[in-house]
Amino acid sequence: MKTRITELFGIEHPIIQGGMHFVGFAELASAVSNAGGLGIITGLTQKTPKDLATEIARCHEMTDKPFGVNLTFLPAFTAPDYPGYIDAVIDGGIKIVETAGRNPQPYMEQLKKADIKVIHKCTSVRHSLKAEAIGCDAVSVDGFECGGHPGEDDMPNMILLPRAAEELKIPFVASGGMADARSLVASLAMGADGMNMGTRFMATKEAPCHENVKEAIINASELDTRLVMRPIRNTERVLNNSAVERLLEKEKELGSKIKIEDIMDEVAGVYPKVMLDGEMNAGAWSCGMVAGLINDIPSCKELIDGIMAETEALIKKRLEGMLTA
Ligand SMILES: Cc1cc2nc3c(=O)[nH]c(=O)nc-3n(C[C@H](O)[C@H](O)[C@H](O)COP(=O)(O)O)c2cc1C
Repeated sequence: MKTRITELFGIEHPIIQGGMHFVGFAELASAVSNAGGLGIITGLTQKTPKDLATEIARCHEMTDKPFGVNLTFLPAFTAPDYPGYIDAVIDGGIKIVETAGRNPQPYMEQLKKADIKVIHKCTSVRHSLKAEAIGCDAVSVDGFECGGHPGEDDMPNMILLPRAAEELKIPFVASGGMADARSLVASLAMGADGMNMGTRFMATKEAPCHENVKEAIINASELDTRLVMRPIRNTERVLNNSAVERLLEKEKELGSKIKIEDIMDEVAGVYPKVMLDGEMNAGAWSCGMVAGLINDIPSCKELIDGIMAETEALIKKRLEGMLTA
């Protein structure tokens, strides 16, 4: 399949693996890229720019296909050394960066000078247009369904994607709630040039997260995620667990007086405990509603090949069949 996204990134299939904290290591990024998609290493999971340089070098050893690095500009307790991370990206020969969170404008000049293609993840049409205006090459349009940070507009993809298609000139991929060929065909129909998946890629053989995480996703239904940190306008969609219930109780009790300090036990330092040690109740960790559509743990190649084969069947048999009936 050829779309503006496969052309832009030099990939075989229009499928991207979004950056995921403590999941987006070289093992997953290379597996996705080797399967013809675009794998992405999560920059800030690496403690220092030097560690990121090592991770990039490891990934180069595992694949000769294009892969990217995610740089997330979110409110952090201590601001990371972003210029240092970008140097590691440039020195590592990376040509694709997925930015997310705040506006990447302060770093665009440095990235563009190095001939890097930037895909910015946005949860609204207005932020997508801003990304286009500051020179991003593409956007990843993340609907309300998504695992992680859906923003504060609560706009589901059935509306957000066609709205993005109406306004944007640069290509975009649909993100949030994407799991299979049905997601891809629907996204293309709504104007996207591909799709981005997070939660689905966590439940793959190569995802370097604990088996407990993969099992939790398989066992979860579409009803099992919760939105946390809404009162502090840092909304995150997470899988429900005992820590999340405690957090939501605190939010209810403290109301608008709640501060990040009040919920540190539930949100700080959670990811290594969950993703590496498999402590499923260690705190709040991102997961999409799409967990309800995930029932197996394929390899990335099995997943992507299956999606592409079924996409063709969906278009050629189901859709065209309806027209010719
Ligand atoms: C466990 C997990 C961690 C994530 N960490 C990040 C991150 O560090 N930076 C980022 O930009 N997005 C992050 N995301 C969001 C994903 O890149 C992607 O946009 C999202 O998962 C798409 O929704 P889906 O889960 O429904 O596929 C994370 C998602 C998950 C599930």
